[in-house]
Amino acid sequence: MILDGHAPDAIAEAARVLRAGGLVAFPTETVYGLGADASSDDAVAGIFAAKGRPADHPLIVHVAAGAKGAQALSRFAQPLPPFAQKLVQAFWPGPLTLIVTRQPGVGTAAAGGQDTIGLRCPAHPVAQALLEACAEQGVPGLAGPSANRFGRVSPTTAQHVHDEFGDALLVVDGGACEVGIESTIVDCSRGAPVLLRPGLITRAQIEAAAGEPLSDREVLETPDPRASGTLEAHYAPDAKVRLMDAKAIQTGLDVLGANAAHIAVWTRSAVRSRSQRVLLRRMPDDAAATAQQLFAVLREFDAQGVKLIWVETPPDTPEWEGVKDRLQRAAAA
Ligand code: TXA
Ligand code: MG
Repeated sequence: MILDGHAPDAIAEAARVLRAGGLVAFPTETVYGLGADASSDDAVAGIFAAKGRPADHPLIVHVAAGAKGAQALSRFAQPLPPFAQKLVQAFWPGPLTLIVTRQPGVGTAAAGGQDTIGLRCPAHPVAQALLEACAEQGVPGLAGPSANRFGRVSPTTAQHVHDEFGDALLVVDGGACEVGIESTIVDCSRGAPVLLRPGLITRAQIEAAAGEPLSDREVLETPDPRASGTLEAHYAPDAKVRLMDAKAIQTGLDVLGANAAHIAVWTRSAVRSRSQRVLLRRMPDDAAATAQQLFAVLREFDAQGVKLIWVETPPDTPEWEGVKDRLQRAAAA
């Protein structure tokens, strides 16, 4: 069931379900999350079951802004290193997740049993209203992976979530997500910041705010934490995704000519097809606008029944890193 997140009773109803150990999908500025009480291992087990996600894959815990968030932070995490505190100052609330050392005995299931935990304070006003209401009822944070089935495209509207999980799941509608790709993840548990997942916030912005350079994950001696968003094949629609330059796409369309079918094309450059059965769609020139549309476009192409999606490779500039990462993973499936 979809509830309008701005309706007077929606937040109270959602908080009640969460307080009772149930699942609620909620909007954030990045993508929709599938939430449960992070302090209850039983409630969190419901997320793994619904998503079909392996139970040792850790989830992100969402916390409120302000005083309640600070309380949640000290409940779930051990004191943050100074560079992580600077990242919190600079980017929370916002699309940044920090992996930090966990307080033993808290959020064990959410952390997939690891001794670290992922924390994020989302900026979306409906998410904040829900987190506040939950905190008031003794639910300190919401464990919330993206509200899609394991390995699939993340949802950026309430309808996407409904399409995937059906009417039994309560979905709080907060409109289409503005960022459109998942949060940037920085591991702060290994002495130096390490970028685990690129997003809207760039490497340069993280380094400037942290006051130190990002380390390469390979040079750190401790083993990599498990991160399903960093699996090579992820974010996959049903259709095969291929990244190509515009010239190769045009050549492919020319070769297939009027017989081309079941193909969708997403390019910044103008391309032509002699077939009416090719879906041609323009990609914005700007990385942020492309990120905002990315998952909805992939879902739309799937809904049209195409078998092949040809996407023009994004530019090699820092602001495109998050979009490029998601497209490469979609193409690896
Ligand atoms: O924007 C987002 O981050 C969205 C919204 C809903 O907040 N959430 C999201 O969650 O993308 P999910 O579960 O789909 O991806 C979270 C990523 C996964 O790759 C997970 O493995 C990693 O974060 N992660 C979470 N906790 C971790 C930990 N303790 N150590 C290493 N990686 C962790
Ligand atoms: Mg995900």
